[in-house]
Amino acid sequence: EQAGKGEYDHYMLKEIYEQPTSLAQAIEGRVDSDSGEINLEDFPPGTFDDVDRVQFVACGTSYHAALYGSLALNQAGIQSQALLANEYSVSAPPVDENTLVIAVTQSGETADTLSALRQAQDEGAQTVTVTNVVGSTAARVADESLLIRAGPEIGVAATKTFSSQAVMLTLLGQRISADVSGDPAFDLESVLADLENLPEQFETVLAGSSAAEIAHQYEDSRSYFFIGRGLGFPVALEGALKFKEITYEHAEGFASGELKHGPLALVTPDTPVFAVFTGTEDEKTLKNAEEAQTRGAPVIAVCPDGHPATQVADAHLEIPDADSELAGLLANVQLQLVSYHAAELLDRPIDKPRNLAKSVTVE
Ligand code: G6P
Repeated sequence: EQAGKGEYDHYMLKEIYEQPTSLAQAIEGRVDSDSGEINLEDFPPGTFDDVDRVQFVACGTSYHAALYGSLALNQAGIQSQALLANEYSVSAPPVDENTLVIAVTQSGETADTLSALRQAQDEGAQTVTVTNVVGSTAARVADESLLIRAGPEIGVAATKTFSSQAVMLTLLGQRISADVSGDPAFDLESVLADLENLPEQFETVLAGSSAAEIAHQYEDSRSYFFIGRGLGFPVALEGALKFKEITYEHAEGFASGELKHGPLALVTPDTPVFAVFTGTEDEKTLKNAEEAQTRGAPVIAVCPDGHPATQVADAHLEIPDADSELAGLLANVQLQLVSYHAAELLDRPIDKPRNLAKSVTVE
């Protein structure tokens, strides 16, 4: 088994460090910033001409990637929702032949997600799956599939597949938005350039991360909170999920603005708050973080160097320029590393956390 891990102590760490490569694989041949073109194989321009709304269904980490994709589409003016696949059978919004249902699933075998996918199909929706596994059940059931090409992921806690899912949903979102509204979701040229730069930016974060020190600094804490706004919100949720999965410590993610509507009651000097700054109303997130700090909580700002949050925060995890819709993915790498190092300090079985399975094939 050690052979498969190479120089790393755990598959999870190896997979975190593989992200520059897995992201490069995800976009290879699909993005051309010189010509400003996206090549999405089975999804040429016009594929989604008759779509008027989008639903994402997914579980766990894939749900957070789905939320990322859905919020980006909303920001582009496309009606879109991210739904927990396990709730879909009881509370799915109506679908018809103009609804596109996108099942996001790394394994392509999660029973909850397959069940939602089949239900949507039975009700007449168009279906797509975004998956890592060629020939998986989701890929066979959905009308079309888009592969994230992340390579095998062994660690139970998903890491590299999250970033690849989010990148592929960003690309797919550009196509959907262009087909549905006539305009790409974001400035296409800059998205394509940002995507091409992303693997290198991941390298930068991985090479210079102070996550191990931060994990050590706060290792005696009782509870860990993660906040973010806009596309930073799914990153906050994912940061907390990763943390609880592998450290067994209490961790929760919130939309920054929600902190004051309840969770603030839990904030004490023993509850570090990781605040993710992605360039969306950062001044509001900073105010929310300061509200926690006033109650004694240490604030760890995940933001670029020189960002106003660094003046206020107790600690800093640096990311390259946050002024991009992909900034959240860079922040997520730092949070992956914090979780990893915190779990290592606690001597947890990082690759196989108790009670969890890589792929859950029962509902
Ligand atoms: C399990 C795993 C999670 C994963 C979720 C969805 O619960 O432990 O890490 O995010 O399934 O898996 P999928 O293969 O559908 O992305």
